[in-house]
Amino acid sequence: MHVLALNGSPRSDGMSKSKIMLNALVEGMREAGAEVDVVDLREKKVRTCRGCMCCWTATPGVCAIKDDMTAELFPKWLKADLAVYAFPLYHFTVNADMKAFIERTLPVLQPFFISVGKETLHPLRHRHPRVAFLSVAGFPEHSVFDQLSSWVRFLYGRFGILAAEIYRPMAEGLTIPSLKRKSAEVLDATRRAGSELVEQGTVSEETLSRITQDMHDDPRLFLQAGDLMWKACIREGVTVREFFERGLVPRPEDPGEFMTLMQAAFKPEAAQGMSAVIQFDFSGRHEDSYCFAIDNGTIRAAKGAAESPGLTIRSDFDLWMDILCNRADSQQMFLEHKYTALGDLSVLIRMKELFAGES
Ligand SMILES: Cc1cc2nc3c(=O)[nH]c(=O)nc-3n(C[C@H](O)[C@H](O)[C@H](O)COP(=O)(O)O)c2cc1C
Repeated sequence: MHVLALNGSPRSDGMSKSKIMLNALVEGMREAGAEVDVVDLREKKVRTCRGCMCCWTATPGVCAIKDDMTAELFPKWLKADLAVYAFPLYHFTVNADMKAFIERTLPVLQPFFISVGKETLHPLRHRHPRVAFLSVAGFPEHSVFDQLSSWVRFLYGRFGILAAEIYRPMAEGLTIPSLKRKSAEVLDATRRAGSELVEQGTVSEETLSRITQDMHDDPRLFLQAGDLMWKACIREGVTVREFFERGLVPRPEDPGEFMTLMQAAFKPEAAQGMSAVIQFDFSGRHEDSYCFAIDNGTIRAAKGAAESPGLTIRSDFDLWMDILCNRADSQQMFLEHKYTALGDLSVLIRMKELFAGES
């Protein structure tokens, strides 16, 4: 099987979640024996269709625009058994780069009108490759793909050339350290989807449900943590890429943000089999107690003192927030008696592995 796998994200590798998902899919397709050509559309010149209809009239089947689409991609696409369209969901539909590619496949059709039942269609000039859609979105609800899916089914589903629709909401979670285990499961399922596409021509419901599984028990927490990141980017005047490259951690400004960040940064896989209650007794700007109960890979946050905390940290609120976002060194502050830790100090030492970004 020859596959043309297209990535329509304008983001570079490493940042593009479409590409991360596509790489996994391609791995699975290759494992199943397919020959896969991967193309990043951002590296190609694919201009938008100008509607001249030359491909239907003066030069039947050949587009008048001289760019990479005419010279390289359209011929490759025509020869492929399967075309994979991977792209980010923009404004709840196909992003512009991918849409430009799809519109430029017009030469595959002939101009004439034919009636099939109550519908008017254009006949095919050549065989149309089967297509698989792979899209990623920022929002957590699966319903964000409803409009896209309706269009995809209308355009391709009716003609029996739609191989699969693979949609991953909350895709930005794929590179978040605290969601590493879930991301690995999603990517493993995507790899499986690639093999199924080659071996069975489609993707099973079971595999799709593994791909779309919730990556976080509480998506609201993920969104709140996202807001903290946006605020930090705005405050520091950095892009999201710079935020991650510099390993920045948002600085919580109040106890609510502190509780959100601690829960969002918690790494379940690091706390398997562990049971501990960590209490913070803050002084200064926000004088109160907050505790986190860790139990075998789960975390619960609560305001107020715990009955019998295993570890109690007494600190000025702002000092601990500085420690949290790596502006102050926890070990040095401890040695300088800027805060105190009572109880099981091994938990204090493990904080770095339990919470992503913790210094
Ligand atoms: C211009 C623009 C529009 C977007 N529109 C949506 C949207 O309608 N719904 C959504 O859930 N995410 C939306 N997003 C978020 C992206 O779909 C999301 O960040 C995705 O993971 C990006 O994929 P990529 O890393 O492959 O580019 C939008 C992002 C941009 C830049």
